[in-house]
Amino acid sequence: MKVVVTGGCGFIGSNFVRLALETRPAWRVINYDLLTYAGNPENLADVAGAAGDRYRFVRGDVADKEAVQKLFEAEQPDAIVNFAAESHVDRSIKDPVRFVRTNTVGTQVLLTLARELGVKRFLQVSTDEVYGSLGPTGKFTEQTPLAPNSPYAASKAAADLLCRAARHTFGQDVVVTRCSNNYGPYQFPEKLIPLMLSNAMSDQPLPVYGDGQHVRDWLHVRDHCEAVALVLERGVAGEVYNIGGNNEWKNLDLVRLLLKLLGKPESLIRFVPDRPGHDRRYAIDCGKIERELGWRPRHTFEAGLSETIAWYQTHRGWWERIKSGEYRKYYAEQYATIAK
Ligand code: NAD
Ligand code: TYD
Repeated sequence: MKVVVTGGCGFIGSNFVRLALETRPAWRVINYDLLTYAGNPENLADVAGAAGDRYRFVRGDVADKEAVQKLFEAEQPDAIVNFAAESHVDRSIKDPVRFVRTNTVGTQVLLTLARELGVKRFLQVSTDEVYGSLGPTGKFTEQTPLAPNSPYAASKAAADLLCRAARHTFGQDVVVTRCSNNYGPYQFPEKLIPLMLSNAMSDQPLPVYGDGQHVRDWLHVRDHCEAVALVLERGVAGEVYNIGGNNEWKNLDLVRLLLKLLGKPESLIRFVPDRPGHDRRYAIDCGKIERELGWRPRHTFEAGLSETIAWYQTHRGWWERIKSGEYRKYYAEQYATIAK
């Protein structure tokens, strides 16, 4: 099976490419990625060379119709797994247009060409953020109405609706996965866990938005990638599958835990102004994928976090290179109010 993976140089995409090359010997993987600030070929340096003909990297934009057409004509893939996205909520608040272009227009370009060129299956990697925010109880199911709150979430929800339309109008074989917050190796240090780990390891302040009582449901990236592979292989066309960790944490409790595991003081915590429109709570009901496809998360949070901390400790060069580059400007602007 020939699989085009878009966004394969990002956090989840690179973990997916690695999982595919390790566990799916019959797949050839074509990684199509624009290499934006978040795309890093270093993430796959270890596997790319070793995989030989089973792996190819092509630099390109999912919203560039001619480039995608050229790729699909040359490779004639059996399936597309679309991870490519602008993925950070805070950046979407600063520049929503880029999010619509990549996340929404890009998805439609891929859908259209997949249909026109006979690609058998299209898997859209979506997010629980399309459902909006929960109160203190309840969980998102696949039936929860879409109510996205950030420009990021809205651009992803629009893409989900375009997938639905492709199925309904053209009978296209499309499956959608919606997962909760991922953590693990190779996550860009703008997201909560790697930001807090890398700051704490450098004895820098840890910026907690608002009152720190916002809740996220954390899932190990490898468990997410296994679920995506399973849905690609066995998911029912036209269906949506929620993927979650059954692992809810208030941000402040999680930050305190990270400090404890690193042996760093809580005095590093700084409360900073809240994110505009900040969703209070996400929690995923993933009963459907468990019942229908037999998926279960394999990592306990305890083991997954220790392994992740060890990875950021042994890959200090990886995140220091990122943090010393273009990212410094973003950080200075985003956290301008942080108390020193
Ligand atoms: P990421 O920001 O780490 O990586 C995104 C990748 O997409 C990068 O390699 C980047 O270069 C590439 N890319 C960006 N614009 C592109 C374009 N126009 N054309 C081609 N490639 C482009 O993101 P991630 O955290 O790995 O997220 C991957 C997917 O999973 C996204 O679709 C995101 O919405 C979804 N998701 C992520 C999480 C999470 O916790 N990180 C949770 C739920 C869903
Ligand atoms: P993030 O990793 O950006 O993921 P998302 O917003 O997509 O859930 O943020 C996770 C949670 O952590 C979210 O409630 C916002 C909060 N947060 C902070 O408190 N401080 C920070 O510096 C960042 C980046 C996030």
